[in-house]
Amino acid sequence: ILLLFRERNRGSSLFNHLSAVSESIPALGWVAVCQKPGPYVKEMNDAATFYTNRVLKDYKETDRRHVDWVRSYLSIWTEMQSFIKQYHSTGLVWSKSGPIAPPSLYDPPRAPSCPPPPPPPGPPPVFTDDDSKPQAGSVLAQHSELFAQLNQGMDITKGLKHISDDKKTHKNPNLRSQTTPTKTKSPGTVNSPKAAIQKKTPLLELEGKKWRVEYFEQKHDLMIEETELKQVVYVFGCNNSTLQIKGKINSIIIDNCKKLGLVFENVVGIVEIINSKAIQLQVLGTVPTISINKTEGCQVYLSKDSLNCDIVSAKSSEMNILVPQDDEYREFPVPEQFKTVWDGSKLVTEPTEIAG
Ligand SMILES: *[C@@H]1O[C@H](CO)[C@@H](O)[C@H](O)[C@H]1NC(C)=O
Ligand SMILES: *[C@@H]1O[C@H](CO)[C@@H](O)[C@H](O)[C@H]1NC(C)=O
Ligand SMILES: *[C@@H]1O[C@H](CO)[C@@H](O)[C@H](O)[C@H]1NC(C)=O
Repeated sequence: ILLLFRERNRGSSLFNHLSAVSESIPALGWVAVCQKPGPYVKEMNDAATFYTNRVLKDYKETDRRHVDWVRSYLSIWTEMQSFIKQYHSTGLVWSKSGPIAPPSLYDPPRAPSCPPPPPPPGPPPVFTDDDSKPQAGSVLAQHSELFAQLNQGMDITKGLKHISDDKKTHKNPNLRSQTTPTKTKSPGTVNSPKAAIQKKTPLLELEGKKWRVEYFEQKHDLMIEETELKQVVYVFGCNNSTLQIKGKINSIIIDNCKKLGLVFENVVGIVEIINSKAIQLQVLGTVPTISINKTEGCQVYLSKDSLNCDIVSAKSSEMNILVPQDDEYREFPVPEQFKTVWDGSKLVTEPTEIAG
């Protein structure tokens, strides 16, 4: 592959660099060389040197970076040679005292094999340059510098703090809304809304001024009857369910629900739908404001007394307002597309025609 890459880049100004690498990289195969891996690597090193000398010739006067590259590249092989000389001078040596590999890791030995010596490396050096023969000391220095940098790479993220999911606002419903209970009643904190929805048990209870309605599925007879003006209703993680609220209360929040039907009489504050899907809402009495936020699919059935309410929406789609007329409802889609123009002093935005 390297050879191919090199051939494809014959015209490249880095052709000699590529050649140095492709001619010497087989040195990594020294582990399979039985008798004399050291000289084998040296041959590869010489092959690389043939090309790195050309690099030096081209760049010695103009760009130090190439000279440095040659030094550190060749030092890989010289280092490897001294390592082999020290530990594996007659071929790869296995530890006799180390742990025994499980049988699955090796095939039973077949015929004792020793690969034939590799093909002779590239042509001998034609250009010699004293600079290209780095002193042993400087090679070591280069080498350890290289490795120091590589090692630093591994440590570089150490200084960064890991932020767990439960601290990320967008991943934790408890942080997302201030109206969410700050005290977690049930054991285990909420880490992922999905997991929580699956695990949590359904709950309908009054906690202080707040009605909590959570994690219901396929429940169509949910009812809150004894209400007071100061109370709020917080519906979270309900699915395929219907909730009725009687009386007059302060506000209602629907968060993370899907296919939820809500019927209520009077709200003096706001009804807010957030992070939900396919919600149906019916007002029997009055409500001043309905906010639809990050929600896909919302049908709002207004009453005769709530026709003047504000419907605020953001990042939502497929919203329809159903207005009572005679004994029926007429449906009006809420605009999702807008046109904005500069009128000379300010921006003027108006809905564009909705196709279809
Ligand atoms: C809704 O219920 C279905 C199964 O009935 C479940 O797969 C899905 O995760 C639930 N979604 C929510 C938002 O609770
Ligand atoms: C909702 O319930 C209906 C039947 O009651 C079922 O067909 C549908 O798959 C459910 N959807 C979800 C999302 O749970
Ligand atoms: C939508 O929710 C975001 C917070 O998630 C809030 O900042 C924004 O004011 C809300 N918009 C509306 C129209 O309610």
